[in-house]
Amino acid sequence: MPASVKKMVTQPSKMPAFSQIIEQLVSSPLLKPFVLSLIILASTIFLIKRLFATSVSHKKLPPSPSKVPIIGHLHKLGRYPHLSLQKLSQKYGPIMLLRLGSVPTLVVSSAEAAQEIMKTHDLAFADRPRSKINEKMLYNYKDLATAPYGEYWRQMKSICVVQLLSNKRVYDTRKVRENETALLVKKIAETSNSVVDLSDLLMAYTNDIISLSAFGRRFSEGESGWQLRRLMKDMISLLGGFDVGTYIPQLAWLSTVMGFYTKVDAVAKEVDEFLEKLIDEHIHTSKRAKAEGSEDFVDVLLEIYNDKSITGFSIDRESIKAIVLDILAAGTDTTFTVLEWAMTELLRHPQGEHLDMTETTGFTNHKKEHLLAVATPYSI
Ligand code: HEM
Repeated sequence: MPASVKKMVTQPSKMPAFSQIIEQLVSSPLLKPFVLSLIILASTIFLIKRLFATSVSHKKLPPSPSKVPIIGHLHKLGRYPHLSLQKLSQKYGPIMLLRLGSVPTLVVSSAEAAQEIMKTHDLAFADRPRSKINEKMLYNYKDLATAPYGEYWRQMKSICVVQLLSNKRVYDTRKVRENETALLVKKIAETSNSVVDLSDLLMAYTNDIISLSAFGRRFSEGESGWQLRRLMKDMISLLGGFDVGTYIPQLAWLSTVMGFYTKVDAVAKEVDEFLEKLIDEHIHTSKRAKAEGSEDFVDVLLEIYNDKSITGFSIDRESIKAIVLDILAAGTDTTFTVLEWAMTELLRHPQGEHLDMTETTGFTNHKKEHLLAVATPYSI
C-alpha cells in the first residue's frame, strides 16, 4: 500500500464545525474586516426587515430558545451537537424548534414525539432537506435516501426491499456475515498481547460485509480496498459536514471561497470513476455469476437495467451507482457506529449488566455473550 494512501486513510479529512469556521474567518487578517462589516450589514438589513414586517404570525410554534439574527441557533450546537441538543431539550422539552441559519428544524427527543413524526405525520416529514452536497454526491437525488417522496422513490424502495434486501437474499449472504465475524474474533484473539485498534478493525469488518454482499469482493485489503475506505471516509465526512450555504444562503459564497465545493466535486468525481469501473467489471462477469448462483447487488441491479420486465420499470446507470452508494454509506457507517458504541460500553462495563440489548435489538442472551467475547478476549 503506498504511504500516501495510508496517510489519507489514517488521517481522514474532518469538516470543521460552524464555530470553527467562524473562528478561522474572524482570525484571518485578510478577511476579518470584510466578514465583520458583512455581518453588521446583514444584521442591519435583518433588523430593518423585522421592524417593518406587517404580518405577524400567530401560529403556535414549539418552544424555542432565543436566537441571534442570521445564524439563528447555530451557535448553540457547539462542538458536540448531540450533547448540546440533549441539554437544550431538557430545558425546552421533547419537541423544540431551532433555526439553523434560515432553516427551521424540529428537534424531537422522546419516543412518543418521534412516533408522532415518523408514523402519524410521516408524509409531512418524508422528504429530506435539499443540499448542494447531496445534489453533487448522490447523482442529483437519484439515490433512495435523498430522493423526494414520489414515484421514483417508490420504485427505488421496491428494488431495495424486493430485490436486494429480501429475506432470501439476506439469508443467502448469511455465510458472509458468519465468516467475517469469525475472522474478526480471530484477528482480535491473535493480537491479545498488544493494543488493538478496534475502531479500525470494526470499520474494515462492516465494510467487508457490505462490499462482499454488494460487489462480491472484499475491500479491506489491496489498493482498491484502501481507495474505497478512503473514499467512504471522505464521502461520509462531506455528507455529514457543515455547508454554510445550505443554512445561510446569503453566505453561500463562503463555501466556495473555503474550497468546500471543490472538495465535494473532487470526491464525487473519484467516487463516480470507482463505481463506473465496478459496473464495467460486473457487465463482463454477471452472466457467469448468475449461472453459479453467486450474484451480488450490482449483478441484480444490472439485470433490472437490462430487463425492465423484472420490475415493470427501467433504471439507468446513474440510479445503479446512486443505490450502490446508499447501501455502502448507509450500511457501513451505521453498523460500524453501533458496534463501536456497544464495544465502548462493554469495555467500560465488562459484565455488560447495564446493557439491555434485548430491548432495542432483539438480541438473545447467546448473541450478547458472543459480543462480550469479542469485547473481552483476555477474560474468555
Ligand atoms: C445499525 C445499523 C443501521 C441503523 C441504525 C440504520 C438507521 C437508519 C435510519 C434511522 C434511517 C432513516 C429512516 C427514515 O428516514 O425513515 C435509515 C435509512 C436507510 N438505511 Fe439504514 N440503518 C442501519 C443499517 C443499514 C444497512 C446495513 C443498510 C443497507 C444494507 C441500510 C440502508 C438504508 C437505506 C438505503 C436507507 C434510506 C431509506 C429511505 O430513505 O427510504 N441501513 N437507516
